[in-house]
Amino acid sequence: MRYETTRREFLRDSSLAFGGAVFASQVKLPTSKHAQVDILIDEPIGTISPNIYGHFVELLGGVVYDGIWVGENSRIPNINGIRKELVEHLRRMRAPIIRFPGGCAADSYDWRDGIGPKENRPRRTNFWFFGDKRKGNTSSKFDPNHFGTDEFVRLCRLCNAEPYLAANVRSLSARDFNLWMEYCNSPAGSTTLADRRAADGSPEPYNVRYWGVGNEAWGCGGNFTPEEYSVEYRKFVSWVPGYDVNPQFIGSGPNSDDYDWTRKFFERLAAKGGFDAIQGWSLHHYAANLARGHVKGWEESKGEAVNFQPVDWYEVLREGERVESLITGHWKIMQETEVGRKVKLVVDEWGPWYKPSTEIAPGYALSQMPTLRDAVFSAMTLDIFNRHADKVSIAACAQLVNCLNSPFLAMEDKFVATPVFDVFEMYAAHQGGTSLRTEIAAEPTTYPRDGVPTNFWGVKGSASLKGKTLVVSLARPDTQEALTVDIRPRGATVRSGRITTLTNSVLNAHNTFEQPNIVRPTSRDLKLSGGAVTVELPAASVNVLELTLA
Ligand code: AHR
Repeated sequence: MRYETTRREFLRDSSLAFGGAVFASQVKLPTSKHAQVDILIDEPIGTISPNIYGHFVELLGGVVYDGIWVGENSRIPNINGIRKELVEHLRRMRAPIIRFPGGCAADSYDWRDGIGPKENRPRRTNFWFFGDKRKGNTSSKFDPNHFGTDEFVRLCRLCNAEPYLAANVRSLSARDFNLWMEYCNSPAGSTTLADRRAADGSPEPYNVRYWGVGNEAWGCGGNFTPEEYSVEYRKFVSWVPGYDVNPQFIGSGPNSDDYDWTRKFFERLAAKGGFDAIQGWSLHHYAANLARGHVKGWEESKGEAVNFQPVDWYEVLREGERVESLITGHWKIMQETEVGRKVKLVVDEWGPWYKPSTEIAPGYALSQMPTLRDAVFSAMTLDIFNRHADKVSIAACAQLVNCLNSPFLAMEDKFVATPVFDVFEMYAAHQGGTSLRTEIAAEPTTYPRDGVPTNFWGVKGSASLKGKTLVVSLARPDTQEALTVDIRPRGATVRSGRITTLTNSVLNAHNTFEQPNIVRPTSRDLKLSGGAVTVELPAASVNVLELTLA
């Protein structure tokens, strides 16, 4: 019931915000404006790394237990203990890479706790202990360690994703990190840990390529200064045997716009040895502050996940869109010292972060209900990554299930895919394509922000080419008006095409266990006249076109 703000109520609320007289001129009749999208086929930006469509799994709340891990003997359909429906959906959205075990939990985690026979694995206090207010010794307070390295790699193998492990820099040593790599990657029969891995079910190495060196080293990952962290970083990555995988090391980068962190770390690396042992620089940005300057504080400034104010439809998009300037800003600073542009950005935590209130279970810390708004948010974010394919090599949406911007919610035998899932499934067509420069001419949309009419863009997106297939994704944020768009691939002719659209007449529409298909995309073939592509993007929609070129 509390989730029932309709578009009509949204309009009504807008009228209140504006004052009746002004509102009359703001209400849009259901006509459609016109816009133009030019795709510059001859201006490639770079290959879209499939890994920017990645996901993040932390030992936190209900993410692992029971979002992913239900156990081999569960009555819930599973594949060797892993929720079967989840695996099927991960395959559908072609999840390319998954990050584990944190987040903040990574810097409390000892990988040795999560290997070997389950009955021998120690139970440990979880980093997020305080997030579960339930009585009793729940798995999110006291981790049974039943889901460890072997189970995580199993999850990845089941859906053809690359494992991306985050090492503990705050409370373990470089030697512990090296031993974890040895457990994962040393050849069959070569070391005691390779034998241990064989006893745990895998004589063959896991060949884990992606290794994060800590997490948020400026905060929960050790409270380091950038200078201190650069010392730790070098200790962790120096003289590490690569085995057969050519490991990719990812440094713990800035919190949002902390440019000082990036500059100082890169300066230190440049001064001592250079950039051979760093392939990625992580960047975290959550769209959390919806306060418009009215209140301060991390918790206080958050907005509602479902019962949001009309203004917050746009505010969360505005806040999330900052990731684009963060990408260009940090990239520029990295170039001051790393002129070769070999170190790429890894946006391995992104998403909206709302106030608690829509958790599907009390102990599922940070769980929130994704709505249509979050689908538009996710589309906008993935388009940004596509447009910066030359700079961003990996990204991970926070987090996979029962958490912030989750594609899935799961509890016991119940499972539902949220509208965020649909966006990932729709956008998978971009993976591995060549990102192309686009030019968009569209009127901005206007919304009332504290009584002041304020502009927001009318349509944005990205385009990629793979063979003869041109993929164009477009997000239309305007909550009231559709938009007619002419799509013009310059220098190419479109022979046929299909459009998939995700929208709903209710702005906070979402899928629940009881009603799992409230927000779902629809597809149709395009009618082309003389090769011209003109489509109507509904208000509040995400659209993906797959066009076959002549
Ligand atoms: O995703 C939730 C938390 O947000 C992660 O543990 C941490 O890295 C970030 O601050």
